[in-house]
Amino acid sequence: MSTPLRGAVIGCGFFALNQLHAWRDLPDATIVAICDRDPARLVEVGDAFDIATRYTDAADLFARERLDFVDIATTVPSHRALVELAAAHCVPVICQKPFAASMADARAMVAACDAAGVPLMVHENFRWQSAILAVKAAIETGRIGQPFWGRVSFRSAYDVFSGQPYLATGSRFIIEDLGIHVLDVARFLFGDVTRLTARTRRVNPAIAGEDVATMMLDHVDGLTSIVDCSYATRLAPEPFPETFVEVDGSLGTLRLSQGYRLTITTVDGTSVEDVSPPLLPWASRPWHNIQESVMLIQRHWLAALRTGTEPATSGRDNLKTLALVEAAYAGASEERWVATAEI
Ligand SMILES: NC(=O)c1ccc[n+]([C@@H]2O[C@H](COP(=O)([O-])OP(=O)(O)OC[C@H]3O[C@@H](n4cnc5c(N)ncnc54)[C@H](O)[C@@H]3O)[C@@H](O)[C@H]2O)c1
Repeated sequence: MSTPLRGAVIGCGFFALNQLHAWRDLPDATIVAICDRDPARLVEVGDAFDIATRYTDAADLFARERLDFVDIATTVPSHRALVELAAAHCVPVICQKPFAASMADARAMVAACDAAGVPLMVHENFRWQSAILAVKAAIETGRIGQPFWGRVSFRSAYDVFSGQPYLATGSRFIIEDLGIHVLDVARFLFGDVTRLTARTRRVNPAIAGEDVATMMLDHVDGLTSIVDCSYATRLAPEPFPETFVEVDGSLGTLRLSQGYRLTITTVDGTSVEDVSPPLLPWASRPWHNIQESVMLIQRHWLAALRTGTEPATSGRDNLKTLALVEAAYAGASEERWVATAEI
């Protein structure tokens, strides 16, 4: 076995703990240093994960450490500067979603990494959930024929604001934070998008942005899909954080429903499969499907680095998902169809 790749994590907040747990379980990587501008967070996380080398300033981290990659787990305002810093030091970089605050920033980040010749992956993990991978594999068997309609849906009343209070304060909320994942799953399952329209609402009066979005997408091969998400939908049992999928094809249908049940119906009958994710030793319900997807995307990154191949959710790929977010906001505010080519 070759020497593990030397990584650093920048941003040691709420979600980074999942990333640090997953890195610890991946033998091909060692996190040699962490960075957070909050010194208290550095002590807490450094002690919990036994990482002695700690920085409050990312510039110092890059200046002093020899790194094979860096994993940026900060919130969006710092992403561009940190990705450009990594590129300037020729360090391959993973960046959390939302990749950037604007398409201009995202394109500049992709260009900076291209110019430096370093790989760039966006931590777009939803498509790496094992249940979503099972849906993709089932479509690819051809059992339901040619898909002509799809729906990807995430509806919940889970209180995301207690763990991530910043989500309540931005003028944009559900499309930018959660819809971005669901739109990426739609691209992953149904192909790229030519145009979309959207309607949004804010139901929760205590937050600034929209908490309900309904989007309709035209895909390149003619399939139509609905992508809908809500944090204002009370259900029992609470499905958070499951993503549901419906696909109608020329030979049958597929449904991924609550409890990770994958149902396929064709003229030959109906089959039901349990595609529940495993509960990793450090994971906790109900987050375990997301936590497993973190492990899978990080393993994918290491394989891509070792083989010199472009990661599935590279910066370049994620420009197309980010464009759907921008198109959805434009479509909602102007009540019109927005071509992705306009973005
Ligand atoms: N992929 C997923 O499933 C998923 C889930 C939750 C959050 N996220 C994303 O993860 C990112 C982080 O979210 P969070 O909820 O953990 O946020 P958080 O605020 O809890 O943590 C961010 C941390 O980054 C640090 N930080 C910010 N700017 C910095 C800088 N320039 N240098 C060093 N440290 C800096 C902060 O001090 C903080 O500790 C967000 O972009 C969010 O959208 C992704």
